[in-house]
Amino acid sequence: MSLPNGQGTHKSESVEELKLAAVTELDSADSSERLESWRVDFLGRKGRLTALLRGLGSLDIGERKVIGAGANRLRDELESLYEDRVNQSKSSQVSVGSIDITLPGRKPTLGGLHPSTQMIREITQAFNEMGFQTVEGPEVELEKYNFDMLNIPADHPARDQWDTIWVDSDTHNDVLLRTHTSPMQARVMEQGDPPIRVIVPGKCYRYESTDATHEWHFNQVEGLAVDEGITFADLKGTLYEFARRIFGSTRKVRFRCDFFPFVEPGVDMSIEWNGDWIEILGAGMVHPKVLEYAGYDSAKYTGFAFGMGPERISMLRNEITDIRHFFSNDLRFLTQF
Ligand code: DAH
Repeated sequence: MSLPNGQGTHKSESVEELKLAAVTELDSADSSERLESWRVDFLGRKGRLTALLRGLGSLDIGERKVIGAGANRLRDELESLYEDRVNQSKSSQVSVGSIDITLPGRKPTLGGLHPSTQMIREITQAFNEMGFQTVEGPEVELEKYNFDMLNIPADHPARDQWDTIWVDSDTHNDVLLRTHTSPMQARVMEQGDPPIRVIVPGKCYRYESTDATHEWHFNQVEGLAVDEGITFADLKGTLYEFARRIFGSTRKVRFRCDFFPFVEPGVDMSIEWNGDWIEILGAGMVHPKVLEYAGYDSAKYTGFAFGMGPERISMLRNEITDIRHFFSNDLRFLTQF
């Protein structure tokens, strides 16, 4: 049913038409400005509902009653819908207000490689480029590989160098957490024939108290090369080249005699650092007994081996004063790398 109407552009709106228009437009009023203009347009003094009510005067009494009642109900309905919307937008403004939606989004925190891992990768890559293959071995190791096959017999005082964490077991008393990566020398030789060139990164464990330069768990990187005719000159050339890659081409390097039961002769290698000599690794020519234990003919084959601590090297290069930082999971430390 349509009504004559002298006002606005909505000349002859029925109650139903007006209702449909009002509800649809209220639905899409998504700002307080649009809500207010909706109110003026539909409920205001010169609005569409008022216009409809004014038009009632020109109807006969019967129609006027019916349509008038409908129009009044519509007004109540629209007023309450409008209030609801206003309340709704007030409460959503509170929550919008507590977040500044104009700020750029927060960057997700990206993880990175642990500084030990970064150092290990740098070291292994240097040796990979010199023809060494990366292999890994068990952290829970047999006494046989950790000591015996490396020429460190039971009850030999040399064992005391490696304070050992034994794994308690009813059936075995020869299982331990490896104290160094050297047992992989024996495992690799046992499993394959020369020529061998491997680099072995991995975790090691020792039963000792911690301080700024000692941890009870840490990483090592072991190296082994075995073939016919390998000499001490090969050892020196390889380790010089390694030091140049990790510490720069002008770095001075020094070898001195040292004792490790699985090499003969044994050395330690130091680099010059701020006027001091800092020891960075142990090395030597693989002991003939170690070759023989692994089933190699020590008259035919020779080799060299070396072992180093990547955390120690990272400490030197990055001026880190306490090895315990590596394993304390403190983001203030870790995010610097
Ligand atoms: N395994 C030794 C340690 O933990 C380090 C080492 C010294 C490894 C000399 C070697 C080596 O391969 O030749 O102290």
